[in-house]
Amino acid sequence: MLCENTPLTCYSRLIAIMAFSIINQKTATSFEATPSETLLAAALRQGHVFAYSCRSGSCGSCTARLLSGAIEPKEFSESALSPAAQAAGTILLCQARAQSNLVIEAQELPAGAAIEIRTLPCRVIELEKACHDVMIMRLKLPQNQSFDYLAGQYVDILLRDGRRRSFSVANAVDAELELHVRRVPGGHFTGQVFEALKPRDLLRFRGPYGTFFLRDKPQLPAILVAGGTGLAPIKAMLEQAFTESSRRAFHLFWGVRTRADLYLDREIQGWLEAHPNLNYTPVLSEQKEQNGWPGQTGWVHDAVLQAFPDLSRVEVYASGPPPMIEAIRSAYPAHGLPKEQLYFDSFEFSQDYPET
Ligand SMILES: Cc1cc2nc3c(=O)[nH]c(=O)nc-3n(C[C@H](O)[C@H](O)[C@H](O)COP(=O)(O)OP(=O)(O)OC[C@H]3O[C@@H](n4cnc5c(N)ncnc54)[C@H](O)[C@@H]3O)c2cc1C
Ligand code: FES
Repeated sequence: MLCENTPLTCYSRLIAIMAFSIINQKTATSFEATPSETLLAAALRQGHVFAYSCRSGSCGSCTARLLSGAIEPKEFSESALSPAAQAAGTILLCQARAQSNLVIEAQELPAGAAIEIRTLPCRVIELEKACHDVMIMRLKLPQNQSFDYLAGQYVDILLRDGRRRSFSVANAVDAELELHVRRVPGGHFTGQVFEALKPRDLLRFRGPYGTFFLRDKPQLPAILVAGGTGLAPIKAMLEQAFTESSRRAFHLFWGVRTRADLYLDREIQGWLEAHPNLNYTPVLSEQKEQNGWPGQTGWVHDAVLQAFPDLSRVEVYASGPPPMIEAIRSAYPAHGLPKEQLYFDSFEFSQDYPET
């Protein structure tokens, strides 16, 4: 039968007809998803938040169990979802598309984590070279606009050619956004940040994304593990905690290659004076830098284990390069860290996926 309404109404109806029902058995909640959108995008659109980070099938943080129904799994790396896990019914919510009604089992975050994802323009107001390969970029929102996010979340910078690049917001909620951009050798966008971008240039971004933010468990010490610019979301979390006069114990471990890479060391030393509940361990990995360095050396994830061989009564928040996150995910459970006490943002590079 031909649709008698406007083409737009017909299209909306068609989409509505195509939408499948997704029931989460763990929480007895449900949402709808069309076959063309990922389950994660559909859930977020309807205010349901599951743990996720990269949205590109690389990090493995968005796993769920498929109990019934058919999905199209799409593309992902083997480290995010192994063939054995896939055979056992595990799916990645950031990749899977529904092909029928589904019943899944997934941990859902409380309603407070559901923040509207928006696209906003912004103006570059400052570019500060913090060290040889890190630029601190400050962005101002239009005067009549505000941007809500949880300290630790990230945004996607939307490039003119349709590609997007993810960066964690490094400050707690404010009228400005601070990003810490590490230059990737040969990198398309980060190269532009160092070579071409100027104060007053306009950009567009979309967000907030991700579920890397502090959980309200003040009784558990928080171990914060940053690799390089992985410090950015952790800085935002700490600023938030300091603003709220949190008395939680925070242990910050910051791994970099050389002394020169500790681009915010002075600021952190200032925090230590003002906040006795913060401990700080910088860790250098480059061998030739270690002469005369009185502090920790080696890999930052090993330095954590030297200080905390038993991780059963702590929470770990880790952000930075994918190999560091992988090392933490594989080594820490053997030291007693329960899976639900580990939160991470793996700084995967962009897969140029379509907009969520
Ligand atoms: C959730 C999330 C948060 C992030 N937050 C930050 C942040 O706060 N600060 C920050 O500096 N970066 C962050 N990143 C990483 C950042 O998004 C990438 O480094 C960036 O997209 C590179 O863009 P580009 O156009 O310069 O490089 P591209 O042109 O996309 O890359 C060129 C080549 O460089 C390599 N490459 C690119 N990026 C990386 C990488 N991260 N690791 C290893 N190899 C890479 C790849 O081989 C790629 O083909 C984050 C990533 C994610 C997923
Ligand atoms: S693999 Fe899905 S969010 Fe990273």
